[in-house]
Amino acid sequence: MPIIVKSRDEIGLMREAGRILAETLEIVVNQVRPGVIEKELDEIARRQFKKRGVIPTFLNYGQPPYPATICVSVNDEIVHGIPCDREIADGDVVSIDIGCTHKGFVADMAVTLGAGSLPPEAQKLIEVTREALWRGIAASRGGARIGEIGAAIQAWVEGEGFSVVREYVGHGVGRNMHEDPQIPNYGTSDSGPVLRPGMVIAIEPMVNVGDWRTRRDADNWTVRTLDGSLSAHFEHTLAITDAEAEVLTLP
Ligand code: MF3
Ligand code: CO
Repeated sequence: MPIIVKSRDEIGLMREAGRILAETLEIVVNQVRPGVIEKELDEIARRQFKKRGVIPTFLNYGQPPYPATICVSVNDEIVHGIPCDREIADGDVVSIDIGCTHKGFVADMAVTLGAGSLPPEAQKLIEVTREALWRGIAASRGGARIGEIGAAIQAWVEGEGFSVVREYVGHGVGRNMHEDPQIPNYGTSDSGPVLRPGMVIAIEPMVNVGDWRTRRDADNWTVRTLDGSLSAHFEHTLAITDAEAEVLTLP
């Protein structure tokens, strides 16, 4: 599939989608604490989307159909954790991934936070992964190659002693959640297509304390670290301009 460049008006709609999404995620994140049930977080997101008149993009996505509005990925879960009846515990590393469709356009984002008090290494993992996303965003200038994003993220993460997941990547986003091009969080700066104004991409570094390898649960969604180590995930949707990228998923 070719890379789809968006018009000014289309980016305006994606900006609206991004704002609604970021506001919703903020509400969900404010409820993350020891004792909250994962499914309650999903319920909050579902209600907010309904109130704001946007479609939960993840619900029924893929095969088998994804069964929830958000992904809740705890501790060694990297991404695509299905919200369950489990209580969040003190010290959990909790990733919330969320997507909505507004006027035909998708916004996609994720954050990771700690519940209660975290051991220093878990806190460092979260901070390194957040910074990895922002370094990827800084590399997303019009005229740069997509490889520069992954190179910047990988150099930072490995320099901090952690590893970058290879088997899942960021992506173009627009009328569909997953459009070309793929945005790896690793690799060399002289690789991949050139970023052009009007492209909209989702950058989503997934960072493990241990090895980068992954495995998937029998539910066919939940992705975990193979070695059982902690993992974190941050994601923003951004529009490429002729200079610095514009982050669309901000409140
Ligand atoms: N941010 C994730 C992604 O880009 C969300 C997908 S969850 C799914 O792949 F269930 F919808 F697949
Ligand atoms: Co995504």
